[in-house]
Amino acid sequence: MKSLLFQLILTSFVLLNSDNNVNAGVTSVFIRKEYPSKDIPLDDEAFAVPTGHNVPQQVHMTQGDYDGKAVIISWVTADEPEASKVQYGTSKGKYEFTAEGKMTNYTFYKYKSGYIHHVLVDDLEYDTKYYYKIGTGDSAREFWFQTPPKIGPDVPYKFGIIGDLGQTYNSLSTLQHYMESGAETVLFVGDLSYADRYQYNDVGIRWDSWGRFVEKSTAYQPWIWSAGNHEIEYFPYMDEVVPFRSYLQRYPTPHLACKSSSPMWYAIRRASAHIIVLSSYSPFVKYTPQWEWLREELKRVDREKTPWLIVLMHIPIYNSNDVHFMEGESMRAVFEEWFVHHKVDIVFAGHVHAYERSYRISNIRYNVSSGDRYPVPDKSAPVYVTVGDGGNQEGLAGRFSDPQPEYSAFREASYGHSTLEIRNRTHAFYHWNRNDDGKKVPTDSFVLHNQYWSSSSRRRKLKKQHLRSALGRMIASY
Ligand SMILES: *[C@@H]1O[C@H](CO)[C@@H](O)[C@H](O)[C@H]1NC(C)=O
Ligand SMILES: *[C@@H]1O[C@H](CO)[C@@H](O)[C@H](O)[C@H]1NC(C)=O
Ligand SMILES: *[C@@H]1O[C@H](CO)[C@@H](O)[C@H](O)[C@H]1NC(C)=O
Ligand SMILES: [Fe+2]
Repeated sequence: MKSLLFQLILTSFVLLNSDNNVNAGVTSVFIRKEYPSKDIPLDDEAFAVPTGHNVPQQVHMTQGDYDGKAVIISWVTADEPEASKVQYGTSKGKYEFTAEGKMTNYTFYKYKSGYIHHVLVDDLEYDTKYYYKIGTGDSAREFWFQTPPKIGPDVPYKFGIIGDLGQTYNSLSTLQHYMESGAETVLFVGDLSYADRYQYNDVGIRWDSWGRFVEKSTAYQPWIWSAGNHEIEYFPYMDEVVPFRSYLQRYPTPHLACKSSSPMWYAIRRASAHIIVLSSYSPFVKYTPQWEWLREELKRVDREKTPWLIVLMHIPIYNSNDVHFMEGESMRAVFEEWFVHHKVDIVFAGHVHAYERSYRISNIRYNVSSGDRYPVPDKSAPVYVTVGDGGNQEGLAGRFSDPQPEYSAFREASYGHSTLEIRNRTHAFYHWNRNDDGKKVPTDSFVLHNQYWSSSSRRRKLKKQHLRSALGRMIASY
């Protein structure tokens, strides 16, 4: 008892004195006003089917390779099969190139999907705007996208982070606010459509409506997908027992480009970031394929080329909300040590329908035979962000544990999205934006210092380089 008390005092002492933790955590007092959290009706214009026979709909894209020189473009044609063909080029209306892919379709209970097209468009130039056209004749539609700059340590880039989106009026607000942010790629932390809240044929129909709902963003920039529990769709009573079936049919990922054995977990590199996508609902314990893959992928991370190491998963590892409390423990037990060892910069998760950010802490000294059971400040640990507040029909998770644990820096039960704006190899600016009814309100923000490049010896090296070049400039100007 005495030693436990001592430990507690010591832990709080350490927490209070670490430079990361000079401020006690904040539980926001903001209470959001009533705003309906119900799904938008199917006949709303947010889900409008574009006019035309067999017209492409639900257009979405994701990165198609390891380094950002390819995209996978997907869409659905509802009326009949047709060639999966993307025409593209670098000026509007002039499509010099054609890429062909494949068509798939599936049934879910008695629902029959439309014809789902997936086309890999590769060998693109970096930092280039491409225009593309899909569909035929009067039903053809045109879109565009911008490829990222070449991989490099000081390449600025702005990511958005969205989780648990669904298709309510709150989801719409999140999507609109995200689109105003100027971010170039979405890191999506799972739970896409919430179609699984429906039964029988409506499951499929709500996947289709969601595809049309997000098209205004997903047709123009990649969304990096990860799966949540609402993608599992295990429904023995409908005779649907293959997990992730709708999700995998509709949302391909570039897993082969990173030697992953499954589309459920994979990695990409984009601008100055190395992004690792994990599957909370696939096996991950020692010796399973995901575990083996992650071990190898972490060795491939080159912080001299891509300084920013970002991990996405659905279930948060550090969460002080009553909802889904400790569901991330099993993954924490397996992977947290690696995150600390490899100095992951930030881990984004969803699942909990509220916002929370942690300090840099770890709990890797704990083992089942020792007493070191408290998370402690750890400069090598990632910051953990939960942003499962996209706005789905389940509503918000409003009850946080009281008192706020020392590891929790900021928490608020509101809808919203985050952005991560990378400036160079050492600095990135992070924001969480609350949806305050119609308005977007920047609410939590901090400067993220890179874990690799902010080590003192590397910082000294960088400083010397800068001094030398500044001196060079001074001498040159005399
Ligand atoms: C896919 O489409 C073809 C052609 O219309 C049809 O014959 C087949 O039954 C469909 N498959 C599924 C699984 O729905
Ligand atoms: C468990 O933790 C205790 C206390 O930190 C340590 O002495 C012991 O070596 C650990 N056991 C294992 C198997 O790592
Ligand atoms: C990186 O960006 C930050 C913030 O804009 C700036 O203060 C810093 O000097 C930059 N570092 C380098 C090495 O350019
Ligand atoms: Fe979830």
